[in-house]
Amino acid sequence: MIATAAFVLAFLAIGATVVFLALGGGPKGARENLHRQSRSGSRTALTVTAVMVVAFGFGIPVAVLAANKDNQSKQAPGGVKLTASQQAGRKVFAKNCSTCHTLAASNSVGKVGPSLDQIRPPAGLTLNAIKLGRARGMGQMPAGLIDGLEAKNVASYVARVAGRN
Ligand code: HEC
Repeated sequence: MIATAAFVLAFLAIGATVVFLALGGGPKGARENLHRQSRSGSRTALTVTAVMVVAFGFGIPVAVLAANKDNQSKQAPGGVKLTASQQAGRKVFAKNCSTCHTLAASNSVGKVGPSLDQIRPPAGLTLNAIKLGRARGMGQMPAGLIDGLEAKNVASYVARVAGRN
């Protein structure tokens, strides 16, 4: 963030310097040029320069900032967009589920339970598994590891990302 601000300020400083040199009686050559130019001509030059300064000094950094706003924390690997609650669910998954389950989007490789990338559980199935637990002879998943909003968020997250990487 500080680096970005410095970048923007540097750009603005360069732009402002160009304007002053060109129009503010800077180097001799620029001044002589101005005398030869018509008034409207130099006004056009000022306008063009101002537009350029704004476009480059503000437009590009702002565009870059806007593009970077959706950065990695909002995206699972593979670029799947997550809602706020799915992002929360991703944290819940890392803490409560990743030790036992494989899920590429969370870089988890647990082998106690089935790979969620393979079974791609809908949110309802995940919620049910969390609530009741599972012990059908393929290992043990304790009931009630989490509940409420956390369970909802993680179920939504898993449904969104499973099998997508
Ligand atoms: C202690 C290890 C362990 C943890 C922690 C764990 N699971 Fe499981 N999970 C399992 C096992 C083992 C199974 C399969 C059990 C069986 O079917 O016999 C399973 C099954 C599942 C299934 C499939 C259910 C079905 O009916 O097919 C889902 C979905 C699931 N887990 C999601 C989660 C989520 C989400 C979390 C985190 C809140 C989590 N698990 C935490 C071990 C675990």
